[in-house]
Amino acid sequence: MKVGIVGAGMVGSSAGFALAIAGYASEIVFVEKNEALAVAQAEDISHAVPFMSATRVRAGGYRDLKDAGIIVLSAGVSQRPGETRIELLERNAVVIRSILGEILAVVPDPILLVASNPVDVITHIAVSMSGLPPQRIIGSGTILDTARFRSLLARHMEISPQSIPAFVIGEHGDSEVLVWSGAVAGSADLLSFAAQLGRPVTEDIRQAIDHDVRNAAYRIIEGKGATYYGIGAGIARIVKAITRDEGALLSVSTLTGHVAGIDNVTLSLPRVIGARGITADLLPDLAGSELEALQRSARLLKDLSNSLGL
Ligand code: LAC
Repeated sequence: MKVGIVGAGMVGSSAGFALAIAGYASEIVFVEKNEALAVAQAEDISHAVPFMSATRVRAGGYRDLKDAGIIVLSAGVSQRPGETRIELLERNAVVIRSILGEILAVVPDPILLVASNPVDVITHIAVSMSGLPPQRIIGSGTILDTARFRSLLARHMEISPQSIPAFVIGEHGDSEVLVWSGAVAGSADLLSFAAQLGRPVTEDIRQAIDHDVRNAAYRIIEGKGATYYGIGAGIARIVKAITRDEGALLSVSTLTGHVAGIDNVTLSLPRVIGARGITADLLPDLAGSELEALQRSARLLKDLSNSLGL
């Protein structure tokens, strides 16, 4: 499948690199207002391809997106040290509104994969502007936070992160909700699973993991100026679920009719993803405190989208 990536900065190029070396796309086309950057990213990534795949990688204009099945939206500014994702809203809403029309004029019925922050509200803008069904507009949402949660749990429990189907839901941001009450390994819940492994999650460990997941982006940005490998791989994972029609359960964001007592809000839940985009949502059985946290997260996102008249 041909995949367009609009925005060839660190996130877009990392997603393109992950897609190219994994072979999840037959062709990748970078579109970027800084054309020299797009050409350089495409050429650099094309030099990685001979080692691992046969992906065609090039740069072009919007017209070169023709026949793409998936368009990744990674254009816009990223957080500066200490800046929240929500503080990017005004600048990135303008960017997305300016490019969405150009994309849809060439590719009228894509699956849009939104990564620009604040990703939940930007995804809501894409749903509102495009007229496409929400099932075909997927925000990367908390797919990265879920990966962070699983990697920290795996380190504590001394097992593979791919063996821990724990989820983070709600806002991809400070109000996100780590679902500790989720069931794993049949009926055992996460905490029981850890205890059975002889690696119980004490309250101190639980608070440390929650803090480290919630603040990972700020920590990494302080150290290297931006995050991009994790989100790039997360975008590639979503693309794989679509191009392979996997029916994979991934925590991603889209406009959701009713959740946590709130109507028409864009946030992340575990959702089934295949060739047609999102085909089902799953609301985990939440503990009381987790449901209250999800309600707070949903209310925050609803108020933000209302403030934009969405
Ligand atoms: C992060 C950015 C992608 O969480 O929002 O790293």
